[in-house]
Amino acid sequence: MTNKEKSAEVIRKFVHAFKCPLCNSSMEVVDLKSLVCSNNHTFDIAKQGYINLMTRSSNSHYDKNLFESRQKIIMESSLYSVVHAKISEIIKEHVDDSIYPIMILDAGCGEGSHLQRIIEECNNIATIGVGLDISKAGILLAAKKYKKSIWLVGDLANSPLEDRSFHVILNILSPSNYKEFKRVLVPKGLIIKVVPRPNYLVELREALFDDNEKKVYQNDETVDLFKKNFYLKDVFNLSYTRKLDHEELENLVKMSPLSWNSEKADIGVFLNRASSEITVDLDILVGSNNN
Ligand SMILES: C[S@@+](CC[C@H](N)C(=O)[O-])C[C@H]1O[C@@H](n2cnc3c(N)ncnc32)[C@H](O)[C@@H]1O
Ligand SMILES: [Zn+2]
Repeated sequence: MTNKEKSAEVIRKFVHAFKCPLCNSSMEVVDLKSLVCSNNHTFDIAKQGYINLMTRSSNSHYDKNLFESRQKIIMESSLYSVVHAKISEIIKEHVDDSIYPIMILDAGCGEGSHLQRIIEECNNIATIGVGLDISKAGILLAAKKYKKSIWLVGDLANSPLEDRSFHVILNILSPSNYKEFKRVLVPKGLIIKVVPRPNYLVELREALFDDNEKKVYQNDETVDLFKKNFYLKDVFNLSYTRKLDHEELENLVKMSPLSWNSEKADIGVFLNRASSEITVDLDILVGSNNN
């Protein structure tokens, strides 16, 4: 069986969770090749196993190099391991483990490593991961590497997902669409949103920006909006530092939109060190859907 056929089998098993992004009707897998809706709109499964369900083209600043660097940092350094452990603990604690399997959507999943790690750490419960991102470059990397989850190129503002089909939505450092999130979550489903706090990657920002252009992350408005849409069960503040070596620092610069508008000289100075302590300062908002 090819990779594409293996992915098609997994998609077929969970096809009830998908809907046509053009006409909203239900879908089925045809010939282990395509996802086809009842009005015959057809979306082919790529040879790497992902499906492109975009209905328009999109331009993204996020390219292959950025996602490769993100993948290296997330999988090979310990920068986010506390975040993964905490999120899987939250899932295990809040989700009824008699549900089989727990459907987890990562909305704005990028290259998929956070979802992969979180699923690995939910080891004693059955889960199926679905990663959705508007960037084909991100989804392509995810699909090449992580074979057990389903990977979709799509827009979270018009998601190709059925109503009430996911038990958990992850939304990690990505934009949100709460109307859509509420629609696709089951009643009492869990939403876990990760937002930056003021000291997130502060060392990188200090090196790349002058005082007056320093980007300060304030998340008060984000938290307020979240509370308007979901019952806020918990907020966890994760603040810690990790030592990254020179190669990891290079990947940190490449993975971050912070470096897009920076001077090469400032980046050079930041990289001109053997290692550095890097701060992770994030809030994990945990909400439930009252619909
Ligand atoms: C800062 S990245 C975070 C990616 C990943 N969650 C991580 O932490 O590595 C933001 C992601 O949101 C995605 N994104 C932006 N707008 C989107 C949309 N309308 N629908 C789906 N994904 C979107 C981008 O393509 C990008 O992968
Ligand atoms: Zn259709």
